[in-house]
Amino acid sequence: MTTIEKAKEKIQENGFLDIEVSEKIDYVEEINKLRKEKNAVILAHYYQEDAIQDIADFVGDSLALAQKAAKTNADIIVFAGVHFMAETAKILNPTKKVLLPDLKAGCSLADSCPPADFAAFKKQHPNHLVVSYVNTSAEIKALTDIVCTSSNAEKIINSIPKDQPIIFAPDKNLGSWLIKKTGRDMLLWDGACMVHEAFSIEKILNLYAENPDAEIIAHPESQDHLLKVAKYVGSTSGLLNYVKNSDAPKFIVATEVGILHKMRQESPDKILIPAPVDDDNCNCSECFYMKMNTMKKLYLCLKYELPFVEVDAELSKKALIPIERMLELSK
Ligand code: 13P
Ligand code: SF4
Repeated sequence: MTTIEKAKEKIQENGFLDIEVSEKIDYVEEINKLRKEKNAVILAHYYQEDAIQDIADFVGDSLALAQKAAKTNADIIVFAGVHFMAETAKILNPTKKVLLPDLKAGCSLADSCPPADFAAFKKQHPNHLVVSYVNTSAEIKALTDIVCTSSNAEKIINSIPKDQPIIFAPDKNLGSWLIKKTGRDMLLWDGACMVHEAFSIEKILNLYAENPDAEIIAHPESQDHLLKVAKYVGSTSGLLNYVKNSDAPKFIVATEVGILHKMRQESPDKILIPAPVDDDNCNCSECFYMKMNTMKKLYLCLKYELPFVEVDAELSKKALIPIERMLELSK
């Protein structure tokens, strides 16, 4: 058996093609050659490592990436992000090949909503409309009425008639923030993101006391005590725009640190301080899943067109409906 055949056999176990590559390889050159030959588009989230963001055809937040995936003419989509993002792209493009450099790049928030438990919860509240954050599996999307992202969640909740009861899943932090913003009394699923729950409010407030000219900005997946002290709360693209347009010279940024790469490029004159986490000995503000993708894995998946994301056809049809409703409401 050749090395490639062996690596292909182990792809489910490893999540990626484990093949040795020459030390002299120029990933940028090779990836550029391959994407042209194969008419592939590389979509990357702001939390990806810097080199991946720099080589991507498009870098965006979850909403912009889904919108881009819905419109692409490419034959192959390489999704440099996490599984639910690539899965959403596949649901929108069932006939296209959607590659994910590492199939094990999951999401703690998506994992906090197991489909069987959620189906039982939904059954207990038959009059409720289900709004789910895009950070969910295809199974949860199939149980959902409208999908949302942090960019459009408020607009989507506000589009629902006031007398309609709502279940919001899976992020309780984003859900509580939306309850405050919209005044809607929603039933919340008890899920959360481990990266956004790792921030230390005490350390952030100490940092703020030392830097009174800074503004605290946070992603809505962060806990309530942090959102309360934040000057601005928004999605990754919202945070980028806020820093660009604010007159403040300094920002304490409470979201995954990968965002600082694009923020520095777009706002080179601003001072950006990553928000500190509770545990000094861990890189908790790095999303372990997002960082599973590397330039080597990106190159190998484009070269061998593996691993790719698959979604059962019937499930895909059901999951497409609430995604399309979101895209329609986000125009
Ligand atoms: P955005 O939609 O704001 O990019 O957020 C995605 C995400 O996973 C945040 O943790
Ligand atoms: Fe999921 Fe949190 Fe990582 Fe975003 S940062 S992909 S919500 S684990």
